[in-house]
Formats: sequence, structure tokens, C-alpha cells
Amino acid sequence: MNARRRTVLTAGAAALVTGCGSSGDGDSDGSTAPASASETGKTPETPKASGTSAGELTRTSDVPVGGGTIFKDRKIVVTQPEAGEFKAFSAVCTHAGCIVASVSDGTINCACHGSKFSITDAAVEAGPATRPLPPEQITVEGDSIRLG
Ligand code: FES
Repeated sequence: MNARRRTVLTAGAAALVTGCGSSGDGDSDGSTAPASASETGKTPETPKASGTSAGELTRTSDVPVGGGTIFKDRKIVVTQPEAGEFKAFSAVCTHAGCIVASVSDGTINCACHGSKFSITDAAVEAGPATRPLPPEQITVEGDSIRLG
């Protein structure tokens, strides 16, 4: 039984090989490949939060009172120490350059070696970092927070 099936498959493969024809269009050197194709595959950083517009970093409602939100791709942490009071700092830890990992209990926390910075002024609350996170400029307009 097996021998008979093998014979049939072999015959089919031979038929496929002979089915290849030449079209005459395959002789170009390939220099006309579209250069823009690679650009269309890239997706720019798109804000995930719904409702944010171009140039907007985030919305005030996305930054918890007494806490903060880290924007890793922008290397910025925005905090709201008191309701309606927004601060922004570099999210790059001054100890060894990690991006800070979380905001909790009034501090911005770096997971690399455990440094903690105040959400109010980014002062060092716990080492090994010795310098505060540098401030960043933000503008709050209504419920929109933008850089600069
Ligand atoms: Fe942040 Fe070391 S890099 S604690």
C-alpha cells in the first residue's frame, strides 16, 4: 500500500517542476524597489490614553492626587502632591540612570537600587541617589497637561 502511494506523490512532484514558465519580466536588476515601504511599517509613539491630542502629555485625570504617573517613553514623571497642583520631573534616576519604576506613598521609586524621591520636589528620600530628580516644565490647561 505504501509503495503505491509513494509512486503517486512522485509523479505529482514531477508535474509541478515542469509547470514553471518564464514570464520575461524577471530580468530587471531590482533597483526600482520602493524606498518608502520601510517607513510605513513604523508606528509613531501613540498616546494610549483616550482623548489626548497631539502635543499633549496626559490629562490631569490620569495623574492621581498624592501620587504620580511615569511616562517612560518621554522619561518624565508627573505628580500631583495636592489636588490641582501638578509637578513634573525627569524620570531618569540620578543614581545610575534607570527610569524610575513607580510612584507610591508620596515617593517616586527607582527599582534598580531602591532610591526614592519626594513627589513634591523630587528631593531624595532614600538613597543611594544623592541628587534630586531635575524638574521638567509642564503647562496645565484645563484638564490637559503638555510639556513646556
Ligand atoms: Fe536608581 Fe540606582 S539607578 S537607585
